[in-house]
Amino acid sequence: MAGPSLTFRPLDASPFGVLVEIEPCDLSAAVARFLEASDEITHALNEAGGLMVVRGLSGLRNAPRELVKISKCFGPDVENYRETLTAERFFHEEVPEVLVLSNMPPCNHPPPPRPEPLLDEEGRFPVQFPQRANWHTDQSYRRPPPDVTLLFGVAVPPHDQGQTLFADCTAALQALEPEVRAQIEGLSGLHAPSWIGRRPQDVRAGVAPKPLLAHQLPQSQPLVRVHPATGKPALYICEEAQMDHLEGPIEGLEPGPDGQGAVLLRRLLAHATRREFVYVHSWREGDLVIGDNRCLLHAATWFDADRYPRLMWRTTVSGHPGAEYAGEAKSWVPEEGAAPMQGMEDA
Ligand SMILES: [Fe+2]
Repeated sequence: MAGPSLTFRPLDASPFGVLVEIEPCDLSAAVARFLEASDEITHALNEAGGLMVVRGLSGLRNAPRELVKISKCFGPDVENYRETLTAERFFHEEVPEVLVLSNMPPCNHPPPPRPEPLLDEEGRFPVQFPQRANWHTDQSYRRPPPDVTLLFGVAVPPHDQGQTLFADCTAALQALEPEVRAQIEGLSGLHAPSWIGRRPQDVRAGVAPKPLLAHQLPQSQPLVRVHPATGKPALYICEEAQMDHLEGPIEGLEPGPDGQGAVLLRRLLAHATRREFVYVHSWREGDLVIGDNRCLLHAATWFDADRYPRLMWRTTVSGHPGAEYAGEAKSWVPEEGAAPMQGMEDA
């Protein structure tokens, strides 16, 4: 069919991932082409280990609803953030399926701290936990968790700041020592929002955990998830701030920030974020980056928030979490009369 051409090629300087380029054209033609090719696009995403960078959709910056439309390529449900466990300052004022990540008001979301040194002794950008903090998958404190995240760069700082890192947890699991792999098969992690007093630093400081409604409780997720489209198993973990260090982080292992569970979690994070599993995305305005939460970790990095505005739009798509979650109700739906974030207004 006539229309702008799509090209697919491996991402430069990355062990995984695919770059999709849409021939320059107006936004409506680019979106139509993307939707028409949705089978090819999702196949390419799965083949590339769950990471895709799309160039040629920069017109989305004036059309957030088109981002929602495109998101439907990746699953049946584009999530409405007013219904998930999300603080109000992240809401897009017109499109509730779009989450706003920005250092500007009203979001005021700061970047992670500047690592010291910014580069390692070989002049490389540190990527591995714990030198690199903040590795997570999106909203893993809900069950089933969201499948795929789309991140669109509306305004970005210079190329060498505010990168987003992605780690291939399928490859990481394959490379895990057999005895550790045997140990984690069948184990589950306990995931929790960072604002409910269950981070390691909260537990160490004796912070009283926040009282929670049923739909806000920490959620158990298997350490090894099988991807529903590829059948490949992948590590599924989050960094410490998004795991419950009061009763977890690993169910059935000694709890607490210094317990056996936390030791295992830190070991798995350090393994999964080894340089050979990581892609560093340096943003250009108008980039759309798609990451599969079922098989990737990702992390934001520092930028100079006093000098540069950064504005990202995010959507998450759900509906195909895998066989472990078959037939399950959504954990985050409140009982009648309650608000999703009730009691969490300071998040
Ligand atoms: Fe994220």
